[in-house]
Amino acid sequence: MNEEGDSKQKQIADMLSRDERTLLAALSTSHTVQALADKLGVEPVRIARNSLWLENKELIRVEEREVINYELTAMGDVYTRKGLPERQLFNYLLDANEIPSADIRTRLHISDKGANIATGVLKKAGLIAIEKRRDEGRSIVTLVNRDDSLLKEKENVLSASGVHERREAGDEALLKELIKRGIMAKKTDNIRELHLTPLGERVRHYITSEAAAEEIIETVTKDILEKELWEGMRFRKYDIESPVPAIDGGRKHPLYWVIDLVRETFLIMGFREVEGPWIETAFWNMDSMFVPQDHPARDVQDTFYLRGEGTLPSDDLVQRVKRLQEDGWDTGSTGYGIAWDERIAKKLVLRSHTTAVSYRMFAEGVKPPLKVFSIGRVFRNETPDKLHLPEFNQIEGFVLAEGLHLRHLMGYLNEFYTLLGLTNVRFKPTYNPYTEPSMEVYALHPTLNRWVEIANSGIFRPEARRPYEIKENVLAWGLALERLAGILFGTSSIRELIGHECDLEFIKRYSKRQLIL
Ligand code: PHE
Repeated sequence: MNEEGDSKQKQIADMLSRDERTLLAALSTSHTVQALADKLGVEPVRIARNSLWLENKELIRVEEREVINYELTAMGDVYTRKGLPERQLFNYLLDANEIPSADIRTRLHISDKGANIATGVLKKAGLIAIEKRRDEGRSIVTLVNRDDSLLKEKENVLSASGVHERREAGDEALLKELIKRGIMAKKTDNIRELHLTPLGERVRHYITSEAAAEEIIETVTKDILEKELWEGMRFRKYDIESPVPAIDGGRKHPLYWVIDLVRETFLIMGFREVEGPWIETAFWNMDSMFVPQDHPARDVQDTFYLRGEGTLPSDDLVQRVKRLQEDGWDTGSTGYGIAWDERIAKKLVLRSHTTAVSYRMFAEGVKPPLKVFSIGRVFRNETPDKLHLPEFNQIEGFVLAEGLHLRHLMGYLNEFYTLLGLTNVRFKPTYNPYTEPSMEVYALHPTLNRWVEIANSGIFRPEARRPYEIKENVLAWGLALERLAGILFGTSSIRELIGHECDLEFIKRYSKRQLIL
């Protein structure tokens, strides 16, 4: 054996469990699962399980064979104890020499059928003669041959019940007879035989050699660590290529892996997470951030309205918001020149963006420097397609600090996406009622093979900050979570990720691993 080969079998041997080693070592002679179980004194299932492992590692081949068993029936059990009816009759006649056939049943305590069979069998074998005595009106059975070798043969077959693979040719007829009489039954079984492969042979040779004889540690326990029992011991090596069964239990939805990743990333960037309600008043969803009351996005075509009314925050804040929309208050802006209507602001909506979460926070009072993000569900009355669903998730964020400009906004977004592996994002100017300037962010979608909008962002304009006394520039964004997930997973439709058309196999298959680009 060359050295390379030697080290290979050592490597394989070092990865075997104790059970696998024991089984492999025992494999020289016994081969069936049952025989090995008997030899090692363990349950056959344990042998079967470990033989699967060894087979996976190509150390053994497992062959399944069909074998025929002849088993005693309940009647057969009784006859092995009492003797077959023909034996009972024969033995009786050895002593008595003759018996009236009508008395067989009572004197021998056997059934009519048993008596008939016994007489028939012995007669056919030429051991008895049956003589009808007219005068006495009955028949008498007499023993005419004392040679019981045929009976003995039959009894041999009976006592050798069990696996009968290589049965003497002559036994065949006797077996047939015993089966027909319901004394034995034929049963086919599958047995598994374990055979060493050439590799298995070499590994077995190694593990039975003295080099491998020492105990190995399979699992490190508290005891082993505390008492330092590991000193000088060998450890079972991990076999990272060993096939393991897939576990289909409950598992995290792939979108949640992305949510986790986004959360971790913003936390790493020093942001703090906040939350807000799904049901909002139009005030928090729109008015609070200087969205005019006649803005098209407020239309039922875009926003889901709910029955009933919500409540407005403090009158002071409401008055500020009103003035800003009507004439721009003291910001130098003219506002929208409309009459602001409280009833419109009280309407309940399913929030259409997470910017409402940031504005609730502004109303509570914020001081620079502050970096905040929130992740959550939003709702828009949209026709579903590859990129749109009526509900999806946004990642909102803002940075409040002194001296912030558009460069910083681009820097934050670039930084975030780069950390997730999206190293090539592009910016494009856009319009929002509450930010100026505003930018959309695009990334190349790997499967759709085109630039897809993944974020909207901007710097909150003075009118959108004035009610909250925020003097500094505030950078802000709303990122599309499902689109980011689509890019990271390489799925071509949002419907593969969320909703009833979602493929369960996808959910099982995708894990955190697929996210790391
Ligand atoms: N609310 C915007 C949207 O849903 C995103 C955004 C948030 C834009 C904050 C600018 C500032 O598209």
